Amino acid sequence: MARTIVFVNQKGGVGKTTTAINLGAYLAIAGKRTLLVDFDPQANLTSGVGASGGGRGIYEVLSGTLRPRDALMTTKVDGLSLIPSSIDLSGATVELVDRDDRNIYLKRLLSEVADDFDYILIDCPPSLGVLTLNGLMAADEVLIPMQCEYFALEGLSLILNTVSLVQKSMNPKLKIGGIIFTMYDSRTKLAQDVVQQVTEYFKDRVFRTIVPRNVRLSEAPSHGLPVALYDPTCIGAKSYEALAKELIARVEGVGAKTAREDGAPVQGSLFAKASRIDSEGLAKASRIDSEGPAKASRAESKDR
Ligand SMILES: Nc1ncnc2c1ncn2[C@@H]1O[C@H](COP(=O)(O)OP(=O)(O)OP(=O)(O)O)[C@@H](O)[C@H]1O
Ligand SMILES: [Mg+2]
Repeated sequence: MARTIVFVNQKGGVGKTTTAINLGAYLAIAGKRTLLVDFDPQANLTSGVGASGGGRGIYEVLSGTLRPRDALMTTKVDGLSLIPSSIDLSGATVELVDRDDRNIYLKRLLSEVADDFDYILIDCPPSLGVLTLNGLMAADEVLIPMQCEYFALEGLSLILNTVSLVQKSMNPKLKIGGIIFTMYDSRTKLAQDVVQQVTEYFKDRVFRTIVPRNVRLSEAPSHGLPVALYDPTCIGAKSYEALAKELIARVEGVGAKTAREDGAPVQGSLFAKASRIDSEGLAKASRIDSEGPAKASRAESKDR
């Protein structure tokens, strides 16, 4: 049975897709049978591995016209499979509204192929709408890619509140697998401060491997390749290779803690300031929960 990991951050452009692709590639290279699920209508993950999802992707699976197994595609990396996405998926947010099982739909569908993989990685859109909720419901662990900047701290509170709500209401087994710092620039004091303060608070839940800003990582998708095939010697490739090893050690070694263990108030200058968003974030996340996916879908398209 696969370990299912979802990449979530409602902030756009923080490295969710880049992390899903490259972590997935290095998991496969490490011998783990890995499935990438593109659950974002932007379909960046799909094009980033050189595929296209038109007509035979996750939207058709959700619509019931294609079995999950029939949507599986191979990629240029041995052992790395893909369920592609396309812009059609944006329609699913509306179509799911009428379903009683709207939040667990992805979970049910992925269970049909889970035995064929060691890891399933789900890439979500930049919102906390119905697609991301489905991702959180389907997952064992949530990984939060995060840029090392002040606004990222504010966003973090909102994600944690949402995860906590999902745990309490629908998926108690969901764990915070960890926070992954991306696009790190060691020359800026702010980046160092953000890493230091988030690490002080989240301790071992912050991945030790920090992904630096590296132009090769941004070039690779335009060639339809994970960086492991595009330029395996660059610093970005080395960092994702290390991240995959760290993930395997964490997941297959000691278990991660749950978000509920994060109850203590956040201390520390930058993060304390950012965490004032907590109550508002919780209220917003509750609205997503209680008002259902119609509201969530609107949030999803607005966030884009
Ligand atoms: N470590 C890095 N160094 C340099 N560029 C990067 C790095 N990580 C990601 N990028 C680039 O930053 C941009 C945003 O990354 P990515 O698409 O992975 O973010 P995302 O969180 O998935 O975005 P969205 O929220 O829109 O789905 C892309 O152009 C990507 O190539
Ligand atoms: Mg993305």
